[in-house]
Parts: sequence; C-alpha cells; structure tokens
Amino acid sequence: MTSEPLLSVRDLRVEFSTSAGVVTAVDGASFDVRRGETVALLGESGSGKSVTAQAMLGIIPKPAGRVTGGSIEYDGRDLLALPATATRELRGREIAMVFQDPLSSLNPVFRVGAQIGEMFRKHRGASRKEARAEALELMRRVGIPAAEKRLDDYPHQFSGGMRQRVMIAMALALSPRLLIADEPTTALDVTVQAQIMDLLARLQDEEGMSLVLITHDLGVVADVADRVVLMYAGRVVEAGPIREVYEHSAHPYTAGLMGSLPAIDGPRERLTPIQGAPPDLLDLPSGCSFRPRCAFASERCADEEPVLLGAPGRPAPHSSACHHAGKVLTDAP
Ligand SMILES: Nc1ncnc2c1ncn2[C@@H]1O[C@H](COP(=O)(O)OP(=O)(O)OP(=O)(O)O)[C@@H](O)[C@H]1O
Ligand SMILES: [Mg+2]
Repeated sequence: MTSEPLLSVRDLRVEFSTSAGVVTAVDGASFDVRRGETVALLGESGSGKSVTAQAMLGIIPKPAGRVTGGSIEYDGRDLLALPATATRELRGREIAMVFQDPLSSLNPVFRVGAQIGEMFRKHRGASRKEARAEALELMRRVGIPAAEKRLDDYPHQFSGGMRQRVMIAMALALSPRLLIADEPTTALDVTVQAQIMDLLARLQDEEGMSLVLITHDLGVVADVADRVVLMYAGRVVEAGPIREVYEHSAHPYTAGLMGSLPAIDGPRERLTPIQGAPPDLLDLPSGCSFRPRCAFASERCADEEPVLLGAPGRPAPHSSACHHAGKVLTDAP
C-alpha cells in the first residue's frame, strides 16, 4: 500500500433534472481510495452513495443526470475528462462493479459459465474452450460448490448468494485494480451476507485490489473496511480510519450511527436510524443539512455550511464537516 491514492474524488457534483426541480444528488464530495485499501461509503438512503459510484464508472443515467463539477482522478487520469471509449475500456478492465441485484445484471438466457467466459473472449481474445476453463477456475475461486456441474446452469437456477458469487466472478475476471460493490449483500439473508463479505475481503487481499463497499449498514462492513467515508445529503460529513471514526466520532450524524452499535468486533447489528427524517434534497435547510436533526446545532450552523476539515485534536486523515466537531468529540458517548 503506497500513500498515493489510486482514486481521488474532488468536489464532485452531480445533478438530476426531475419534474419537481433540479436535485443535487452529490454536492461537492471529496475522498480518496488508496491502493489495496477497502473503503466503506456509508450513509442513509438517498445520501448519494450510488450516484457517486455511477459517476466513478461513467454511468450516470442520461439525460436526467449530469456531472456538473469536480474531478475523479484514477491513477493520474481524470475519468470525467476522458473520452467515452476510454472510460468504457477502463471500466471493463480495471474498474469493476458488483450491484445489489445480480439478476438484473446477468442475462437470463445465457448459461452462467458462458457469461463469465464471455469476459475472457471479449477482452482477452480467449477461445471458447479457454474461456470455459477460466470461468470454471473463477467459479471455484468464488466458492461455488460443484462448479463444474454448475457451469451450464442458468442464472435463475442459482440462489441469491450463489448468483452474487457469479457476479463477483465476472467482476474479477480481468483482475481489476478497483472493485466497487454497491450494497452487494443487502438483498441476502444475514448468514449469506457474512459469507459474501468474507469472500470479498479474501479476494481483495489475494488480488491486492482496492475495494469500495457501498452500504447503509455499518455492521456489515465494520470488520472488513480500512476506512469509512460518511455521506449525508450528497456531502461527505466525516471520513477516516474505521476504528478512529468509530471510537472518536467527530460529526453528530456519525456519532448517532455509531452509538447504535455494540462494539466494532462484536456481533453484527443493523444501525438504528437516528432521529428525524432524511433531508428533502429539493428543500435543504440553509447552512448545515444535518442541522434539523442535530442536538449540537447553533446559529452558526444555519448561517454557514461547514466544510470538511481535520478533526480537532485527532490524527490525520480523520476529517469532519461540523462547526462543533470539537464538542462532539468530547461529548459523544
Ligand atoms: N435517476 C435519477 N433520477 C433522478 N434523481 C435521482 C436519480 N438517481 C438518484 N437521484 C437522486 O439522487 C439522490 C441520491 O441517490 P443515490 O441513489 O445515490 O442514494 P443512495 O445513497 O445510493 O441511497 P440508497 O441507500 O437508497 O441506495 C436520490 O435521493 C435522488 O433524489
Ligand atoms: Mg444506492
């Protein structure tokens, strides 16, 4: 792991035109993903996690959505400035993605082995036979039992967890340097969730790739993530090494989320939602978006939008966007 980031998101801004008005889904988000590191992108529903991932992959739904500002530097190149063909190429080869619902990404009419093998045929010019052998090898690596028999099954013949393993196999086919997993276990039951998380963690380690895990469920990623980036209303409100952020939350939103977990190494538990409703992106309060739900809110919070700064008295790279970060650090349970 070197200190130079593989991916560097700076002041990213993404807007959607809707019938009700223009929604700023991502509003100046900045964070880094270093080589070989697992970063959890965490936040309530609607906080802009998936849209951030879509921007990284160049798949913002058009024409409603568009990137209106910022940069996404991948290995020294700005993905937002690259021609579409170049991003497509990178996406196939170096940046791979796993989604919540594998059925929507798998083709129902093709056998699973052929779909995995297609990656090798398309990108590596492999023969049918070579592709089949590679697919088999990958299915074994992602822990699909009796892989040889299952090569010729169709997606619907697999359980949810096994289908997610198939998706992971496809994502790994070309040995990506960055894997983005958007709620990869949300649709699965708790036991299978843990198995898929363990698989991702093992593969991340074996491949030395960077992993971005998007989730609204801290319990699921607590023991695999190195760092956590918390989003609220399209902004990054806190970021840092997971244990540091967990033990010394410097934003009231994070403190609320973390307070609901028993212990970082303890039993997995879903976050209890913090009081109040998530914000309406079409009608955000002035200043800090979290203000209406915050016990620390003051006049300054209404007047001045807080920016992401080093958490007071805490080691870098822990940062928080809160005018009262110092107080949160001393007062939070
Ligand atoms: N295709 C779209 N058209 C219009 N608005 C959109 C679209 N996609 C996202 N948005 C807006 O962007 C906001 C952020 O969406 P996003 O999908 O990134 O949330 P999320 O953090 O991934 O939430 P979840 O945990 O529910 O997946 C949404 O609340 C919505 O207002
Ligand atoms: Mg999402």
